[in-house]
Amino acid sequence: MSEPDPTFEFAARDLNLLQTDTTEPTVLAWRPAQDWGDVRELVVRTNARVAELMLSLVRETAQARNDEARLLAVIGRFAFEAFPNATHHVLAAREHDEAPLHNIIARARAGDGTSVPLSRTIVERVLRDGHALLFMQGQDLGGNKESIVMSRLETAIVAPLTGVRGTFGVIQLDVRKPARGRFTQEDLGMLSVFASQVGLALEHLWLHQQQQRAFQSTISALVHSLTLKDREIAQHCERVQRVSLAIGERLGLSDTDLEILSVAALLHDLGKQGVRNEVLTKPGSLTGVERQEMDQHAAHTQSILDMIEYPGDLWDVPRIAAYHHEKIDGTGPFGVAGDNIPRAARIISVADVFDALISARSYKPALPPEEVLAKLAAGKGKDWDESAVDALHAVVNDVLNDVYSISPDRDGEEPLAKAA
Ligand SMILES: [Fe+2]
Repeated sequence: MSEPDPTFEFAARDLNLLQTDTTEPTVLAWRPAQDWGDVRELVVRTNARVAELMLSLVRETAQARNDEARLLAVIGRFAFEAFPNATHHVLAAREHDEAPLHNIIARARAGDGTSVPLSRTIVERVLRDGHALLFMQGQDLGGNKESIVMSRLETAIVAPLTGVRGTFGVIQLDVRKPARGRFTQEDLGMLSVFASQVGLALEHLWLHQQQQRAFQSTISALVHSLTLKDREIAQHCERVQRVSLAIGERLGLSDTDLEILSVAALLHDLGKQGVRNEVLTKPGSLTGVERQEMDQHAAHTQSILDMIEYPGDLWDVPRIAAYHHEKIDGTGPFGVAGDNIPRAARIISVADVFDALISARSYKPALPPEEVLAKLAAGKGKDWDESAVDALHAVVNDVLNDVYSISPDRDGEEPLAKAA
């Protein structure tokens, strides 16, 4: 999240979006969207300050492209930097063609917190025609347009936001104080250039957010299908996710690595859907054939997860999830050893065993935390990653409290609450 910008203040509550006009707004000049390519070239070539601003805008919107709060802060700041006489900035858009227009940005320079109306007439015209307009709000023109431009009456410029799906919003800059001067035709050209970059940036952001939602819904569907197969396994997966994250945070993993860890941990036992219930819940030891069937679940997890398309950094989730039973000495189902096992998989492995041992199951009782930790400590460097076991040890009281509702000041003899 970006820091609040002290130069400007939000005035969203003062915004009357699509206010019905009392007096027809007067259009003083316009610029069709098809001219914007020429305008961009002209404006950027002839004005070094504008060229520099636009270059910075392109760079900063690219850096903030997947972070909504940061992107809107960049757009809001640049609007006032690019138009020094503007007192108010409004950006209204719709994410889908059928959706209503809503305010995305409504800002005033500090000290200029008066209401910022968007004119219904102007917005409808801009959306329909795709023109950028220089206009005057709520004033009776009385004849001579040029004299109005030259006078210092209240003016505004508005441009359409356009992307691959057409026009989807408007951006408006207002001069509310006569002392600040007025907008000109050059400002109109400048706003056209600004709006084209803002349109691209917003469209990219929404596409990214849509992809994230699609991915999250896929994950939710998979978890739901596991819940239908066996509620206990699904709950185990959710607890392993939380324990894994506690270990990962203790180890100082980056936000990206924590996200990878989170998704892989949640899905690590998905492959148990390919194991028969009588094997999954069998009390006592498994026969050789049953053990073979059970051991296949890690490979099933990979084959299911390989079918999903992952956003960017999450591409290795299937392998990480599948390797949750790998041993440091290379004796796990895939025979991978040591550092060749992804770090996130080594963390999930520790969290998985911790949860399995500390939880009561239909076929076995729960072990006390001390005993579980002792077993993990005994397997350090052979079965489990040493740093992951140590990290769990360091945060175990919080984990017991947060994930298992077991108080840190427990009595060693006190029976553990059966994990849900
Ligand atoms: Fe497993």
